[in-house]
Amino acid sequence: MNTVFSVEDLRAVIAGWRREGRTIAFVPTMGNLHDGHISLLTEARRRADRTVVSIFVNPIQFGRGEDYARYPSTLEADQQKLSAAGLDLLFAPNLDQLYPGGIEEDTRVTVPGLSTILCGQYRPEHFSGVATVVTKLFINVQPDVALFGEKDYQQVLVIKRMVHDLLMPVEVVGLPIVREADGLAMSSRNGYLSAEERRRAPLIYESLQRAADKLRAQLASLIAIETAGMAELAAAGFRPEYFSIRRAADLDAPRAGDTRLQILVAAWLGAARLIDNVGVEMPEPLRVP
Ligand code: PAF
Repeated sequence: MNTVFSVEDLRAVIAGWRREGRTIAFVPTMGNLHDGHISLLTEARRRADRTVVSIFVNPIQFGRGEDYARYPSTLEADQQKLSAAGLDLLFAPNLDQLYPGGIEEDTRVTVPGLSTILCGQYRPEHFSGVATVVTKLFINVQPDVALFGEKDYQQVLVIKRMVHDLLMPVEVVGLPIVREADGLAMSSRNGYLSAEERRRAPLIYESLQRAADKLRAQLASLIAIETAGMAELAAAGFRPEYFSIRRAADLDAPRAGDTRLQILVAAWLGAARLIDNVGVEMPEPLRVP
């Protein structure tokens, strides 16, 4: 496995592969890698001749007071995991490489609508920060396919919309959430949990599953299911931001006749903001929202 730190070195490797006619699969990350990331790389290897992973903690997708400064940086351990998983090229730029003019006046890419709901309501700059850095990465990595984890379900839809709207020749693939044995979705932010919080954290997935069962049965209104999910988490000491049932395809409010729904949650537990979601295939089309 080769590691490059500059855009110039990245471009040189990519240009060589392109000359040889190789296809490229790309997994953008912020490092502190876990099995969820490795599952993306495994699928990336299946889909293209060459694989690229980036590790970059992107300041502009963090709000003021969020965890940018303390986001875990574990480059050596990450390199070992990626090398063992068969990666071809790691791109690990510093801030100047991706934001040569600084971050304040930098060009921004914004996906309207989708970026302002759910997580976007609580993190107003977040998705614009993600869309901007992913654009920079796509332009320089030139992937045929890029893979993202569906724990960040809304992020996957934002990036798909961006790629569609900006006519980027990249296939964006979302892959299923990888979970710990007790159901907690794998996330670098799980490391912020104390031992006691970690024991409570799987409740977030349990509450989603309970909500999914109720949704499939269609015996309670969507509002009642959402309110019960919020209350269950709050009663267990979480600080939920939202517990929301949406259309899976576009995260709009559900309508009668819908068959593919997504239940999404964001909740704080101690110093960790946890997000999770489940897809629900309705046995019968939704009757009334
Ligand atoms: O999902 C992440 O780790 C980040 O949002 C991403 C896509 C690497 C952009 O910084």
